[in-house]
Amino acid sequence: MARVKIENLKKYFGKVKALDGIDLEIEDGEFVVLLGPSGCGKTTLLRSISGLEKVTEGKVFFDDQEVTNLPPKDRNISMVFQSYAVWPHMKVADNIGYPLKIKKYPKDEIEKRVKWAAELLNISELLDRYPAQLSGGQRQRVAVARAIVLEPRVLLMDEPLSNLDALLRVKMRSELKKLQERLGVTTIYVTHDQVEAMTMGDRIAVMKDGKLQQFGTASEIYHTPANIFVAGFVGSPQMNFFRMRVSSEGTKYFAVGFGMKIPLKGDPRKDQVVMGIRPEHIYDQASGSTQEVEAEVYFVEKLMSETIVHTNLPEGGRLVVKIPGDVSFQEGQKTKFYIDLDKVHVFDPETEERIKL
Ligand SMILES: Nc1ncnc2c1ncn2[C@@H]1O[C@H](COP(=O)(O)OP(=O)(O)OP(=O)(O)O)[C@@H](O)[C@H]1O
Ligand SMILES: [Mg+2]
Repeated sequence: MARVKIENLKKYFGKVKALDGIDLEIEDGEFVVLLGPSGCGKTTLLRSISGLEKVTEGKVFFDDQEVTNLPPKDRNISMVFQSYAVWPHMKVADNIGYPLKIKKYPKDEIEKRVKWAAELLNISELLDRYPAQLSGGQRQRVAVARAIVLEPRVLLMDEPLSNLDALLRVKMRSELKKLQERLGVTTIYVTHDQVEAMTMGDRIAVMKDGKLQQFGTASEIYHTPANIFVAGFVGSPQMNFFRMRVSSEGTKYFAVGFGMKIPLKGDPRKDQVVMGIRPEHIYDQASGSTQEVEAEVYFVEKLMSETIVHTNLPEGGRLVVKIPGDVSFQEGQKTKFYIDLDKVHVFDPETEERIKL
């Protein structure tokens, strides 16, 4: 187990800045998720931490030891990849024991550790089978068992669940999380699936274009996104964004536009702001501190457990609303919605950073 510290890490492939100055400090035993769209540099960062990728600039530390130039085999890390590469010609037990065999562990120690890892992953009855005789989920468990037999200092996983069907993913998600908690091994987990990130990560590092956008708990990322990108990337359906004019009346400030006048909690010191409103923070009934808005229903998605209403605002612009349960709306119907004023977000239209009010 180890703390992982990443300092101003850069990795360029020719002109492509895959990592463009990443700073990250991961605590001992923490489960950190790297989240971001395709091509943002998640795999490159993971490979740089593992030593599989030689970095252009910057440093990697495990505890106080600098490992930037250590080969992977000397870092005491394990990796699990998306394509759970288990060796087809080896039985499950041999697959799991392979890293120990390479390190020339004695036979009885290998047996003991394979048994231990197989029990942890609930695959003890499968040790005599070949990978071809396993389901996808079972194969993935073998790959994870193989990754933990050496009790690595750091466990690195790159989209390990993306080849599994939806139900199995959810099951494996909780299993992996529980396993990590039991082992207490520092884990860095790559995904582009926001639900996976939110449910598994102690903290989430949101990346875009080789840069870290925000590093925080699921709650921080959701409730106080650092910028428009993070706000739009996490949450489903996506947050509504409106570029609005700022007006003041005495000491009170409002964002005005699209048929809305939203009171702000302070002076944004801007002529215009981007207002961010999550669909689940707009209700079909007034409650607490809400702001009414009239909109015309354009399209309704009935998921039964919730109803997603796409609406047109009177002055143009689209507002997406998420109402819990199976609620009836007619397309073309004009109806009133209520924006929760305690949950609106304000961003700077130029820098796209969150404005704290
Ligand atoms: N070996 C390479 N040679 C050249 N460019 C590369 C190489 N590996 C990655 N890149 C580029 O670096 C950037 C980051 O790639 P990376 O694989 O880290 O993204 P990712 O976030 O893991 O994406 P995905 O979610 O699709 O796996 C991309 O623009 C990619 O094209
Ligand atoms: Mg990748």
